[in-house]
Amino acid sequence: MLSHSKEATTNLPPATDSAPPVAAPNGTPTTPTSPTRDPAQEVPDTHNGGSGPGLQVRDLSAWYGERKAIENVSLDIDPHHVTAIIGPSGCGKSTMIRCLNRMHEVVRTARADGHVSLNGQNIYAAEMDPVRVRRVIGMVFQKPNPFPMMTIFENVVAGLRLQGGYRARELEQIAERALVQAALWDEVKDVWKKASGVSLSGGQQQRLCIARTLAVQPAVVLMDEPCSALDPIATYRIEELITELKRDYTIAIVTHNMQQASRVSDYTAFMLAEADRIGRLVEFGPTSKIFTNPSERRTEDYITGRFG
Ligand SMILES: Nc1ncnc2c1ncn2[C@@H]1O[C@H](COP(=O)(O)OP(=O)(O)OP(=O)(O)O)[C@@H](O)[C@H]1O
Ligand SMILES: [Mg+2]
Repeated sequence: MLSHSKEATTNLPPATDSAPPVAAPNGTPTTPTSPTRDPAQEVPDTHNGGSGPGLQVRDLSAWYGERKAIENVSLDIDPHHVTAIIGPSGCGKSTMIRCLNRMHEVVRTARADGHVSLNGQNIYAAEMDPVRVRRVIGMVFQKPNPFPMMTIFENVVAGLRLQGGYRARELEQIAERALVQAALWDEVKDVWKKASGVSLSGGQQQRLCIARTLAVQPAVVLMDEPCSALDPIATYRIEELITELKRDYTIAIVTHNMQQASRVSDYTAFMLAEADRIGRLVEFGPTSKIFTNPSERRTEDYITGRFG
């Protein structure tokens, strides 16, 4: 049971200096919170940037107040693969992936029910610290959201600074590595300590946000339409990057772009909300099958553009 009452979501434990920030969808860093004890250390951690465990989602339902947004979603997000989540607007894709790192409960009145586990550990267990969960399962949002008052470097290390315990040289090394991984280093290496994150182009800002997510060394990276605000060239760079990142990370990506889903993903989940406006998983399987020989008529109708 992963019930989150309004009280539970609005009365989080007080902030400590040991937790990384979470970038809210609107770009505002949310207040990091962490209990005194840190049971979420049990969440498998891949501090050497190495193998990322997978996510198991079982019977996941989510509500906003009284309104149910998704119902009984079950799927596995495989390690070192890219899983795409597709479906018409409003079918619950964002809600679903926000449940996968406990971002859903940041919305007042929102709650979820079901099981989400990372390598067998229930991320909704009572003792699990949601801030830690969000570090291990990072998220990149639709609109690039660099922290406006920070340089490129400070943006990348923002989470590590809040965690504390890093020397200046270590922060530089981690930031450089994250910027290299995010395929941004060559473009910013001469200005990264001076230029503001928001002085970059949209595509560069999105890669900066990816670097910021990678800097805290997550196991899983969730992306909610990461290219929807980008031009085709910037989109191509991010897609290339996703393909490279899956060597080290487990990735789930929400996209409206069918070509993008077929290009970058190994598995595809198709969600749909019908007359009752509750999103359900219609079909899940290897991307090649979903796009060439889906089992469900509704999947075929969607991917061939008959609706949505
Ligand atoms: N903060 C919120 N408060 C109340 N209802 C919400 C909230 N966010 C989403 N919803 C509702 O939940 C349902 C699913 O929304 P969600 O954003 O998950 O859909 P989506 O598939 O991501 O859509 P899109 O493709 O347009 O981004 C919608 O009916 C939406 O109105
Ligand atoms: Mg969405």
